[in-house]
Amino acid sequence: MGYEIQKIFTAILVVFLFVFGIGKISDFVFKTEKNVVSYKVEVEEKTSESSQKSDLDIEAFLAMGTVDHGKSTFKKCKACHSINKGGKNNIGPALYNVMVRNAGGLTDYKYSKSLLAYGKKWTVEELNGFLKKPSTWIKGNKMGFAGLKNEKDRASVILYLNQNSDNPLQLP
Ligand code: HEC
Repeated sequence: MGYEIQKIFTAILVVFLFVFGIGKISDFVFKTEKNVVSYKVEVEEKTSESSQKSDLDIEAFLAMGTVDHGKSTFKKCKACHSINKGGKNNIGPALYNVMVRNAGGLTDYKYSKSLLAYGKKWTVEELNGFLKKPSTWIKGNKMGFAGLKNEKDRASVILYLNQNSDNPLQLP
């Protein structure tokens, strides 16, 4: 009988150590995994933010374009936008003076909610990002245009937009 009890105690002890041990080990593994995961997320957020916004070398970018090429590229926009002074809103808002006005800034055009809520000005960086892929730069906006993939096209159109203004910016 004494032998049987000893066996039972040993078994309980083994089970106890086993459960306790697993608990400790998984605690350890879980904790370190959690740390690694949150560290990764932070790093990713930082890199994507900086690569989206401030990496543009404006001078080098604009040097790729010309106003003339911008004028011909703008043919793609003409279906929806006027560019001349006093031009009317069309499917899209009139673009004379668009450079550095507030996004969604015309009072006589009915913008989408998302463009109205955007709260930024049309700078070179913003226009570049928007014209590259309108649908992802400002989610939910209603400009039905796929975007200008080519950097030279974008730089040129931006120079052309800037020209069509009462006060063209002195661009580098
Ligand atoms: C199929 C029609 C269409 C084409 C083509 C188009 N757009 Fe637009 N665009 C729109 C519409 C519609 C809006 C308003 C978007 C909103 O309110 O969400 C808009 C908005 C804009 C704005 C914001 C203006 C403001 O007042 O905030 C700019 C800048 C712009 N477009 C530039 C361009 C340029 C440059 C091109 C050509 C490369 C172009 N668009 C091609 C329809 C078009």
